[in-house]
This record gives sequence, C-alpha cells and structure tokens, in this order.
Amino acid sequence: MKGSFFVLFLFVSNVFSQECNNLQRMEYNVGDGPQETFVYVEAWDRQNASSFLGRHVKFVNLLTVPVELYWEQEKKTSLVKVLRPLSTAGITAFVDHVFSFRLREVVLERFRVRADASNVFSIPLKVVDRMTHYYQLPERNTTQQEESYQWLTKTLLYNDYYYNATGRSFLSRYGRLPPRHFMWPADFLGQEHVVQNLTLTVLSCAPRVFEIRDFLSSTEVEHLWQFAQQKKLTQSQIGDENTDDYASKGTRSSYNSWIGRHESALVETIYRRAYNVLQLPHTPDVTEPLQVVRYRFREAYRVHADFGYPDPSHAEQPTRFATLLLYLNSVTMGGETSFPLGSHGDLRVRPEAGKAVLFYLQTPDGNMDEKSLHEALPVIKGEKWLANLWFWEPVKDVESLQ
Ligand SMILES: *[C@@H]1O[C@H](CO)[C@@H](O)[C@H](O)[C@H]1NC(C)=O
Ligand SMILES: *[C@@H]1O[C@H](CO)[C@@H](O)[C@H](O)[C@H]1NC(C)=O
Ligand SMILES: *[C@@H]1O[C@H](CO)[C@@H](O)[C@H](O)[C@H]1NC(C)=O
Ligand SMILES: *[C@@H]1O[C@H](CO)[C@@H](O)[C@H](O)[C@H]1NC(C)=O
Repeated sequence: MKGSFFVLFLFVSNVFSQECNNLQRMEYNVGDGPQETFVYVEAWDRQNASSFLGRHVKFVNLLTVPVELYWEQEKKTSLVKVLRPLSTAGITAFVDHVFSFRLREVVLERFRVRADASNVFSIPLKVVDRMTHYYQLPERNTTQQEESYQWLTKTLLYNDYYYNATGRSFLSRYGRLPPRHFMWPADFLGQEHVVQNLTLTVLSCAPRVFEIRDFLSSTEVEHLWQFAQQKKLTQSQIGDENTDDYASKGTRSSYNSWIGRHESALVETIYRRAYNVLQLPHTPDVTEPLQVVRYRFREAYRVHADFGYPDPSHAEQPTRFATLLLYLNSVTMGGETSFPLGSHGDLRVRPEAGKAVLFYLQTPDGNMDEKSLHEALPVIKGEKWLANLWFWEPVKDVESLQ
C-alpha cells in the first residue's frame, strides 16, 4: 500500500515537473570538444503550430567590412539595411521572401525565408577566408574583432544543434546565460498567479502572455494620459528590428513620448508595482522610461520583435527581457495587440483602460522568444493610448544594441 502510494507520488511529480520545467539535456560540439547543456522545449510549440507566415530572420556578418542586405523582388531590389562588420541583426520577414547579402554591389549569397527551418543566415563560414583574400578585406587585428568572430561562428554552429533539439532558431549569442530574472510559469490557459491584490491570468503559454486587469487605477490612467499630453508627442521611431524599406511604408505610424520614472510620484508608484508584479528586486534599475504611445484612426505597428542584438563581444549580452503594456483607454474597434505566432492561434488582446499585458521576450534557456513577435492592429474607431514599460536582462544597457 505504502509502495504504490510512493509510485503514484513519483508519477504525479514527474508529470508536474515536465509541464513546469521544459528544459531538456542537449549534447553539442562547437569546436571546444563535446559539451552538454539544457535547452528549452516548449510542449505547446509542437502541438499547435501557427499558420502565420511572418518569421524573425537573423543575419550574421562575419566579415570585417559592412555588408548590404537587399530584399529581392522580381522587378525590384531594395536595400533593407547595412550590416555592421562582425555583427548580428534581425528583421521580421515573410516566408518565401528572398534576400541577398551584397558586398560592393556583388551578390555574395541569396536566401529564402523558410516556414519550417531555421532562419539564421550568414555569410557562409567556409567562404569567409576565401572572400577575405579575394576582396582583400582587412584582417581581424584587434582582440575584440577576433572575439566577436569566435562568438559568431560558435553561435552559428550551435544553432544547428539547437534548432534540431527545439524546433526554434537560436536568436541569442552562444554562451548567453539563462535569464537571472524570475519568470512566471504559463502551464495552461487561464492559470492564475496572485501578487498582492493583482491577478496575472495566462492568455498564452508560448509566447508567455499574461493579462492583469485593473493594473492601473482610473486616477493613474488619467495622470499618465495628462502627462503625455503635456509633452510633445513625436513620430514613433522604429528600432533595429524594422525598416521602412522592407515590406511596407508606415511600419509604425504612431506618435509617442517618454516619461522618466522619477518625473512624478505616481509614475514611481507604477514602476514599483511593475517590479512587484514581475517579482524583480527594485535595484538595480532594469527598466527604460515609460513610453506613452498614441495611435489614431488606422495607425498601427506591424509585426515586430521587442528584443535586439547586442555587440557579440559584450560579455553579458544585455537585451530586453519582458514588455509590460499598459492600456490607457478602451478601444471599441480595432487596436488589439496581436500575437500571431502564438500556439493557441492568433491571440488578440483588446485594449481596456487600466489593463496590463505582460509578455516575456526570452525563453528560460537564454534564447530570445520568436513567438513574442507582436503587432498593434490598426485602430478602426477613436484613438488608442498605451504605455510600454521594458525590462532588461541581465542589466540595462541600451547603448549595447547595435
Ligand atoms: C587591421 O590593421 C591594418 C593595418 O593597420 C588595417 O589596414 C586594417 O584595416 C585593420 N583591420 C580592421 C578590420 O580594422
Ligand atoms: C540537424 O538535423 C539535420 C537534418 O536531420 C542534420 O543533417 C544535421 O546534421 C543536424 N545537425 C546537428 C548539428 O545535429
Ligand atoms: C489594490 O490595492 C491598492 C492599495 O490598497 C488599491 O489602491 C487598488 O485599488 C487595489 N487594486 C485592485 C485591483 O483591487
Ligand atoms: C490549438 O488551436 C486551436 C484553434 O486555434 C485551439 O482551439 C486549441 O485549443 C489549441 N490547442 C492547444 C493545445 O493549445
């Protein structure tokens, strides 16, 4: 009797730990001999693949000179961005779109965005030395250049193992540590976590998205709105992730302003509440200023990622860890925040005054979460006001992004 109880207990605890802790052992060799690590395999990933065709595409430039990235259409090619020497960059692109890497107008390599393969592209490892010789490119001479080159080549090799084991591209740098910040589990839809008098409700397991009703009081909503009104709103800038030259003009058509956490006592209170909800210590400060955004009729922000790519030689690889989105009004038509790669179908969150949405940009093994790609759908009626609060990991270092 005692024995079977014990067996049952083991069985139950095993099932439980599989759901909560999806880390799997993986062996690999990136040139330093056989090693092993734990990679994150999300149970939800394989069960319900989204049919959305947007993908995060990562580019690696292994050369010591800038390389141009072009989008190749039948009748037209357009410059998307210039990749800095020995660096990584990313964009959100669509399956079957073709891009090329070019050096002084010469096409080095063409590639096509894939639906079910890794979308990490580089100047192929094997030709780099030949290229260097052929084009008489400058040698890598500084330690930093050599370090970056080593990290980038290892990351590319590691991506092969990682993709095979997890079905996800490795969007991080090889050797980046798992998040040191706490992460709330998202084991099933509707799961609730209570922090003081706030409740986080799971809206999606992959990506990990939580809704927090009444995060802001009506006074706070009013305060933020007034504050933003007083400041001059400027046309929103797009980060490293997007570019006007790719896919569409008006990638981001909103206006925004920034509010520092110490600009008012009420704003400071909101920051403290946000740290509590994420269960993070209050120091060091890992947040950016609050970004208040206004979307008017038809304004939108097409699908994009919030994380970025730090310099490959940066030891800590700081980048954004989580987004806390605070809705400042209720929108009756349009303006939803959409997560089209979610494993539960296209999740659309309706803006409601005072409601917050928390989503993580990283997975528990230190990779960036491609499924956190999201979109602000066009506003169909009225205006939409919201505030973004971004948390960094392991430290805040906005300058480190390339
Ligand atoms: C390395 O040093 C040589 C000689 O000073 C210089 O010409 C070259 O541009 C340097 N390489 C890089 C990548 O800066
Ligand atoms: C990954 O899987 C592919 C296809 O099965 C295989 O060709 C490749 O060698 C694998 N890569 C690694 C590093 O295991
Ligand atoms: C939570 O508690 C604070 C302070 O007591 C209060 O101002 C706020 O209205 C409460 N929020 C909810 C959602 O009950
Ligand atoms: C898969 O997606 C369908 C439709 O979007 C949804 O009804 C179902 O609950 C999802 N299954 C899981 C395991 O999330």
